[in-house]
Amino acid sequence: GKYRVVSTKPMPGTRWINLLVDQGCRVEICHLKKTILSVEDIIDLIGNKCDGVIGQLTEDWGETLFSALSKAGGKAFSNMAVGYNNVDVEAANKYGIAVGNTPGVLTETTAELAASLSLAAARRIVEADGFMRAGLYEGWLPHLFVGNLLKGQTVGVIGAGRIGSAYARMMFVTAYGQFLKANGEQPVTWKRASSMEEVLREADLISLHPVLDKTTYHLVNKERLAMMKKEAILVNCSRGPVIDEVALVDHLRENPMFRVGLDVFEEEPFMKPGLADMKNAIVVPHIASASKWTREGMATLAALNVLGRIKGYPILSDPNRVDPFLNENSSPPN
Ligand code: GLV
Ligand code: GLV
Repeated sequence: GKYRVVSTKPMPGTRWINLLVDQGCRVEICHLKKTILSVEDIIDLIGNKCDGVIGQLTEDWGETLFSALSKAGGKAFSNMAVGYNNVDVEAANKYGIAVGNTPGVLTETTAELAASLSLAAARRIVEADGFMRAGLYEGWLPHLFVGNLLKGQTVGVIGAGRIGSAYARMMFVTAYGQFLKANGEQPVTWKRASSMEEVLREADLISLHPVLDKTTYHLVNKERLAMMKKEAILVNCSRGPVIDEVALVDHLRENPMFRVGLDVFEEEPFMKPGLADMKNAIVVPHIASASKWTREGMATLAALNVLGRIKGYPILSDPNRVDPFLNENSSPPN
């Protein structure tokens, strides 16, 4: 192949590989037997000639890597993720490297996990499952695993972008019912809250879907947790550092009826001390986008991002929605 494209991880499906190979790329996939690659590992992968890289959200794409990629002749980097808080886009741009991400294909998949965690937390599914497996079930009891009914409750979404809006649509059906008018109940209204605090105070169920940046770091802290209802449910399928996890563990300990469903953690793969012991927490390992269709779609989109840029087109999905290296008069390559 004329171009060398590196993927720091094997990715689902073969479509992404075929797309690149058909367009004259040699694809090299890292098969190192470690989950998270270091900056040094990735510098070795880049080598002396590399036109583009597909990387993962666990990797630190900053000055060092973009400088190495630029020296190797690289023009494109795509995260296989919609979130790009692991990427220093400014550093990339400084070296003439365009950055891509993979929105869209994971919207519904992620929203469905947030909805799953919401329902699982409300009905204490994981706790109840553990109870059964431990052989503790001795028969039906009126007070056994009593949880929260979501119908008629107030659902709060913080970060109402693509994913947050998809979640809201799903919960509209769950929490309010589809046949409100037929049943003669009041129609439900959507409300744009005047502040985040209003959502925290009023909602019975809150799902977090913001991007992680300086403005959303520890968005949910001790003070804001204290504003929430004692029996509220909090779900996070965005990025761990959006919640102050130490404060959350304290809050869970002090408020046994408060429940959380977490897909992401402040310092993955670790959990803050005490979190794993909290019965009122459901924890899953960052699997919100984990459906076959979505993961193959993410890999394909990441490959197209890199391929497009190598071929001189605007990057397909630029998180900033602009490609500063492409001037309007540039013509498509042959
Ligand atoms: C996953 O966390 C993503 O950002 O795609
Ligand atoms: C519970 O199983 C009931 O029948 O109410």
